[in-house]
Amino acid sequence: MTEVCKEERGPAERWSLRSGAVSVEILSLGCGIQSIRTPDHSGQSADIVLGYQDVEGYLSNPRYFGAVVGRVANRIAKGRFVVDEKEYKLAINNGPNALHGGLKGFDKAVWTTEAVDNGVKLSHSSPDGDEGYPGNLNASVTYRLEKNTLSVLYSAQTDRTTTINLTNHSYFNLAGQGTPDIYDHEVTISAESYLPVDDTMIPTGEVKPVEKTLFDLRKPVLLGSRLKELPGPGFDHNFCLCSPGDPPLERKCARVVHPGTGRVLEVSTTQPGVQFYTSNFLDGTLKGKGGAAYSKHSAFCLETQNWPDAVNQPHFPDALLRPGETYTHTTRFTFSVL
Ligand code: GLA
Repeated sequence: MTEVCKEERGPAERWSLRSGAVSVEILSLGCGIQSIRTPDHSGQSADIVLGYQDVEGYLSNPRYFGAVVGRVANRIAKGRFVVDEKEYKLAINNGPNALHGGLKGFDKAVWTTEAVDNGVKLSHSSPDGDEGYPGNLNASVTYRLEKNTLSVLYSAQTDRTTTINLTNHSYFNLAGQGTPDIYDHEVTISAESYLPVDDTMIPTGEVKPVEKTLFDLRKPVLLGSRLKELPGPGFDHNFCLCSPGDPPLERKCARVVHPGTGRVLEVSTTQPGVQFYTSNFLDGTLKGKGGAAYSKHSAFCLETQNWPDAVNQPHFPDALLRPGETYTHTTRFTFSVL
């Protein structure tokens, strides 16, 4: 049985879900995950996601801690795309590109909430033209905690053809948030290929096999040593979990182990990709929970999603949602100990 409680917290509601030794806090502001507490091998509980102590911290949240990102997570090249022969222009907020839904994306919205079995459903209506995107879009995200698994179900409908890509942007550190780095974590990502990017972080279009590259994470890899070998600041790449056109079956995506505490995170998803991001842009200036200064490589994100810039790359998985269709995806995070 999962306990579900709701409290008013200044600008937002906070919903707490508890199942056995695992507890999760969800905020209506940004539809985000504020905390996830899980036990280590000796039963000691720690919060394993980065974030802010108070709800007010999430009013800005420039690095999207825990938030649901939309309408389109990740980058759209030059902030432009064409749907039904009409060109749409978005705010340019990341070099020459559009990132994470724009200036006031889904992470800045206060979502409406309702209790569901073992969880909470959050809904948000984004009007036609919102941040430059076409169509009135109704989106919902349902978080359910069942045993030691947090499931996240995304759903959306539109009245005009639009592009969509929803994800959750949680930053994990399995040693406990506030631990300075993730170098002692072992990561496995079940991907046969990944997307190389140009110097503005847009996929070049090549779908490159991971075999014989530093992106081969199909067997457990110690993150500290792999990050030393990798050119550039770290991982910030889409790993391909299936081929374009494959059915949206739920697949194993990733497994991360922290041997020191015994904590294990497993992720599965119906999404065709996962952006593996090693917090390359954190620099110690953001103060989080318990006064922690979050530095570079102090967390990792596994943002299950469509491939970046898919709306502009016809050989990538379909990025459009049409009237009468329902966008639906599920991602599951399972927490255990070795
Ligand atoms: C994603 C992007 C990163 C960065 C973070 C937020 O992971 O791929 O480049 O924008 O979000 O800081």
